[in-house]
Amino acid sequence: MREYFTALVKGRRRNPGTDPISSWIAVWDDLEPDRAAADEAVFHLALFMVLAALETTSHVLAGAVRLLLEHPRQRDWLRTRPEHIPGALDEVLRYDAPIHMISRVAPEDTVLAGVTIRENEMVQLMVGAAHHDPRQYADPELFDIRRRSPHLSFGGGIHFCLGSALARMEAECLLTALLQRLPGLQLAGAPGWASRVAFRRLITLPVARA
Ligand code: HEM
Repeated sequence: MREYFTALVKGRRRNPGTDPISSWIAVWDDLEPDRAAADEAVFHLALFMVLAALETTSHVLAGAVRLLLEHPRQRDWLRTRPEHIPGALDEVLRYDAPIHMISRVAPEDTVLAGVTIRENEMVQLMVGAAHHDPRQYADPELFDIRRRSPHLSFGGGIHFCLGSALARMEAECLLTALLQRLPGLQLAGAPGWASRVAFRRLITLPVARA
């Protein structure tokens, strides 16, 4: 990927087009007089974009299938009510957030929820735990696609996920097609998980057609 994106940025520098890489080069050229540093910044942005998009979305797609197959009554209810797919997806995002931990560095001394945080200290916001906080969600361990509760899976504030609409569209397409085309799909074994903290990842999800 490093080679691919380095070559892509160089190519767009030589022959700009109307694509995102060319637009980012134009923006960075206004900010950064050193062209090599601007290209380096665009390279990191392109790489970040792919990682931010693929890792998270692939988890939510696999996670949505897993949770619906683990709850066949809800899966069958949803098949006849596709208009509830967006709400079901929000429950998947609450129940099993693809990113369990968001990091921030305090710009100044502050107090957060009664805890003193010093300037430049890093704070890890535990999204996965927040989504299972009984003070925020009634019966949080219950997977309920009719819950329609807000969640933090796409972050919040100025860094709110750029690709949330795309990720939702991908997941809605997948679930719509899956429920119609493979109505008898079922789990054929226990899912396998990567041993990680921040980014959730299913490594295997054995399924079978009925
Ligand atoms: C279900 C899928 C996704 C999830 C759960 C997700 C989650 C997140 C979260 C939690 C953040 C905030 C990080 C922070 O505050 O530090 C974020 C930011 C971001 N996401 Fe996503 N994301 C998803 C899909 C995508 C896709 C498909 C793209 C690109 C096409 C994307 C691009 C980005 C970018 C560029 C940012 C940084 C925004 C900024 O800092 O201003 N994400 N995402």
